[in-house]
Amino acid sequence: MSKLDKAALGEPATVTAQPDADAFLSVRDLRIHFQTDDGLVKSVDGVSFDVRRGKTLGIVGESGSGKSVTSLGLMGLHRSAPNARVSGEVWLDGQELIAADPDEVRRLRGRKMAMIFQDPLSAMHPYYTVGHQIVEAYRVHHDVSKKAAKHRAIEMLDRVGIPEPDKRVDSYPHEFSGGMRQRAMIAMALVNNPELLIADEPTTALDVTVQAQILDLIRDLQKEFGSAVIMITHDLGVVAEMADDLLVMYAGRPVERGLAESVFSEPRHPYTWGLLGSMPRLDREQTDRLVPIKGAPPSLINVPSGCPFHPRCPYADIPKDNVTRTVRPELTEVGGQHWAACHLSKEQRERIWTEEIAPKL
Ligand SMILES: Nc1ncnc2c1ncn2[C@@H]1O[C@H](COP(=O)(O)OP(=O)(O)O)[C@@H](O)[C@H]1O
Ligand code: SF4
Ligand SMILES: [Mg+2]
Repeated sequence: MSKLDKAALGEPATVTAQPDADAFLSVRDLRIHFQTDDGLVKSVDGVSFDVRRGKTLGIVGESGSGKSVTSLGLMGLHRSAPNARVSGEVWLDGQELIAADPDEVRRLRGRKMAMIFQDPLSAMHPYYTVGHQIVEAYRVHHDVSKKAAKHRAIEMLDRVGIPEPDKRVDSYPHEFSGGMRQRAMIAMALVNNPELLIADEPTTALDVTVQAQILDLIRDLQKEFGSAVIMITHDLGVVAEMADDLLVMYAGRPVERGLAESVFSEPRHPYTWGLLGSMPRLDREQTDRLVPIKGAPPSLINVPSGCPFHPRCPYADIPKDNVTRTVRPELTEVGGQHWAACHLSKEQRERIWTEEIAPKL
């Protein structure tokens, strides 16, 4: 059966990404589905990417596109959801995690990989002091005295820019402002010098100045420790500043990926065009030209046939024979280290981008 026939039958598209021998994290055909009373939710449905040490992968997409479920999957946190079905491969520094022993994954979590969430309160316990929580996070992986661990906690709080860290170490999370809590959570995530840091909308709830400081902080720490970073955000300004590579997700799947530079300068997927025209950016003040993408993201229980973006795509009628409604486009190479999943021909994409989209951005 050809790939096109398979896709028409709704079978998974084949992974087209080339393995990267130098990657610290390699994700291959990751699928995370949830069995619910309403049906099977295909939150992540065939995601592949690589991240090297010292590099940042940006993952963008509207709310509900599967970004958070992807990151929780990498951390092995779906294991606590009994209705989750997970397949694919996640290679972290040569070790495969999906099939690994849960205890082993727990050991890696915190030490080799750590996560920063949008809401620090979800990661911090309200009844324990900030210092106590950082101390515990450190002592899970280091056989040191409480005193030494507390010293380390103060050092980390200082590192993330908390004033008077030797005093604030004994504060409770609610005694911190939102920005301070976010910093404290970053201190906790980084206390073990993780080699992979996953930041899931780390600055969304913060004001612009604090956002910029937190991003600087992540960048500095990344430089210092040479960590691989995954930056999940709906703010294209953030990824424009930070990401080396970019993955654009729609309805649980990647629709475009590549070097951030290429994806920004020559985006090749109509959904990415829509995002560029509709998303506010930290690095751009004007918001009057924002044009929302029409319609809403689909339910991940009933993902549209063919190209999942077709009900919202202004160009769905261009490819011949109604192909956008019947055949799921696979990621195909559209340039050096640049892939997009769209049935438009190279010429059609280039023409639409140059004549219709780029001049309006
Ligand atoms: N435990 C779960 N059970 C059922 N559906 C879930 C579960 N967790 C997430 N989902 C669904 O998966 C989809 C993707 O969610 P998410 O990854 O949080 O999106 P994003 O982070 O891109 O906004 C959503 O439709 C969400 O409702
Ligand atoms: S395949 Fe068709 S519907 Fe999907 S993004 Fe491309 S042009 Fe639009
Ligand atoms: Mg999310």
